Amino acid sequence: MSLPAKLAVYSLLATSVVCLQFPFKLPFFKQKEDLLADNQVVPPVTPRIAIVGAGAAGSSAAFWISKAKERFGIDVEIDVYERASYIGGRSTIVYPYNDTTLDPMELGASIFVDANKNLMRAAKEFNLTLKDFIDEFSDTGLWDGQKFNILNEGTYSKSWWTTLKVLWRYGYSAPVKTRTIVKNMIADYISLYTAASPRWDDIGGLVERMNWTDFVNSTTLEYLSSKGVAEKWSREMVEAATRVNYGQDVDKIHALEGTCSLAATGASAVRDGNFLIFENFLNRSGANVYLNSEVRDILRVPASSRWIIHTPSGSRIYKAIILAAPFHQANITVPSDLAELIPPQPYVHLHVTLLTTKSESTNPAYFNLPPDEKVPKVILTTHEGVRNGGVEPEFNSISVHGQIQKVPGSVDEEPEWKVKIFSKERVSDEWLEKVFGKVGWVHRKEWDAYPVLPPTTRFPPVRLDQGFYYVNAFEPFISTMETETIASRNVVDLLLHEEFGSGICGSQLSGPETGEEDAPRESGSEDFVLGWDC
Ligand SMILES: Cc1cc2nc3c(=O)[nH]c(=O)nc-3n(C[C@H](O)[C@H](O)[C@H](O)COP(=O)(O)OP(=O)(O)OC[C@H]3O[C@@H](n4cnc5c(N)ncnc54)[C@H](O)[C@@H]3O)c2cc1C
Ligand SMILES: *[C@@H]1O[C@H](CO)[C@@H](O)[C@H](O)[C@H]1NC(C)=O
Ligand SMILES: *[C@@H]1O[C@H](CO)[C@@H](O)[C@H](O)[C@H]1NC(C)=O
Ligand SMILES: *[C@@H]1O[C@H](CO)[C@@H](O)[C@H](O)[C@H]1NC(C)=O
Ligand SMILES: *[C@@H]1O[C@H](CO)[C@@H](O)[C@H](O)[C@H]1NC(C)=O
Ligand SMILES: *[C@@H]1O[C@H](CO)[C@@H](O)[C@H](O)[C@H]1NC(C)=O
Ligand SMILES: *[C@@H]1O[C@H](CO)[C@@H](O)[C@H](O)[C@H]1NC(C)=O
Repeated sequence: MSLPAKLAVYSLLATSVVCLQFPFKLPFFKQKEDLLADNQVVPPVTPRIAIVGAGAAGSSAAFWISKAKERFGIDVEIDVYERASYIGGRSTIVYPYNDTTLDPMELGASIFVDANKNLMRAAKEFNLTLKDFIDEFSDTGLWDGQKFNILNEGTYSKSWWTTLKVLWRYGYSAPVKTRTIVKNMIADYISLYTAASPRWDDIGGLVERMNWTDFVNSTTLEYLSSKGVAEKWSREMVEAATRVNYGQDVDKIHALEGTCSLAATGASAVRDGNFLIFENFLNRSGANVYLNSEVRDILRVPASSRWIIHTPSGSRIYKAIILAAPFHQANITVPSDLAELIPPQPYVHLHVTLLTTKSESTNPAYFNLPPDEKVPKVILTTHEGVRNGGVEPEFNSISVHGQIQKVPGSVDEEPEWKVKIFSKERVSDEWLEKVFGKVGWVHRKEWDAYPVLPPTTRFPPVRLDQGFYYVNAFEPFISTMETETIASRNVVDLLLHEEFGSGICGSQLSGPETGEEDAPRESGSEDFVLGWDC
């Protein structure tokens, strides 16, 4: 291609790419064929890192890199490619009736907890208002498809272990033992925020170091039973938590994720949407963000350790690549020797239905209750009905999330309740009418929400090749917004050491490699968060 022709391609591309960034930088794309054919490709003056995906993982990866730039002047430019038209990935909001004067509802990931130090710290530093979730989880019932096993007026997330009805049904020992197991797990987990946190290029190595082999290699039911927890408790109360959080039963999901489902202390959400944390990560990182930009191929530059990212708008060369999306959903062609390294990973296909209704309570008749009985605001489910020869509940969870007040003076001013339903199948309009009576606004969304999480000790590689890292390898281990920011911190630290000889916290390692001795450093105060405070 002649020079003027090339320039024409550049300017065309420059206008076809949507940019959302601070500061604005002119995109500089070439055609893939040019890059591959060109033996006169000179390495760019400023090395570049590409991040694929602008969810929790990708946005935080950009933020961690910017921390290293800010602290140690690492010279690197960051490009973030996002297939969707928005930032946040599985963390995104919608407004009832699409009315932005009303409070938004989370369509994907909704809560994080006190132990989630990166998100808590980010919300604080970025001045985001949190709302707490405790009220929304009072008044809970456990539905097995034919009957309520327990109708609980206590508080689910705060002290559900100790309400009278729970103690009466399960006794004292199961709740207390479970609580101890969760507490110990969190205490171990917190070590990931200390200066002595390991770095890992192999999640199996991390599992061993954390002494979590039994956790990830047993089902939640097996693990709790091995600790003397009564099965009835696991199959009802614990299963209600694993089903609402991960759409999986206690005899299927591994015990680490099962235990995480129970760690609901201090549940919060960003009032105006959790995605604001991720938007702030990107804005503050100075990365170039390309929305509506699907990465199609990732190729090696022949005879070099560099990489080419190819999108429908063109191609660009990078020193390093961070894949921050589930590989099998990303639809990206990578060199076959690398694709082979990533085992197939099924995800739970989840239907989320948001709606508004004037009915304060769901229809008691649907739940085989007398007409004057009040149905709980939060209905969690178990698989127990099926185990006892009955049918599976038609939904995973139903929760009422407060009220909306429609605009005063509008034709219809009566307040409505906001409802969120998770289910394995689509719930039909007729079903909604049967359960809620008349509904107002309805919004449906299907997600590949989280991995299917059977017990295992084998995880995908974090480092696929020199300069090519995979954040979402972490998801079959734990899948939450927060843990994706921990996984990205680890990946960025490894990558910067490999390519720039210096990590997020400078040339020292931010922690010993898995398998090495503990670092003698103290993490200092309780507020210390690795990566933020170094
Ligand atoms: C309904 C639901 C409820 C949940 N509840 C919670 C909760 O309460 N708390 C919690 O912590 N977690 C929850 N989760 C899980 C949480 O959403 C995820 O663990 C986390 O958001 C994953 O972040 P990520 O950045 O790794 O992936 P994603 O958020 O999926 O981001 C990946 C991004 O990559 C983009 N992408 C994919 N392929 C390409 C490509 N080829 N080119 C360019 N871009 C591409 C995608 O568009 C996407 O934006 C929930 C999830 C769902 C669906
Ligand atoms: C919601 O409103 C916005 C802005 O007016 C509009 O672009 C969008 O298409 C609307 N979405 C729906 C689902 O109606
Ligand atoms: C955070 O919000 C408070 C109160 O609204 C304000 O005084 C403060 O300047 C804000 N800080 C930042 C960094 O925006
Ligand atoms: C590791 O965990 C096992 C069982 O889960 C426990 O018996 C053992 O004491 C733990 N070891 C350490 C060093 O914490
Ligand atoms: C994991 O569990 C399986 C099945 O119980 C067992 O065969 C295997 O040895 C366990 N792996 C480890 C590393 O403990
Ligand atoms: C991030 O920057 C974009 C573009 O300037 C802006 O529209 C958006 O509101 C910013 N988001 C946050 C959370 O600051
Ligand atoms: C995957 O990408 C190819 C082009 O690279 C495209 O033709 C195909 O439709 C995509 N598939 C999905 C499911 O998006």
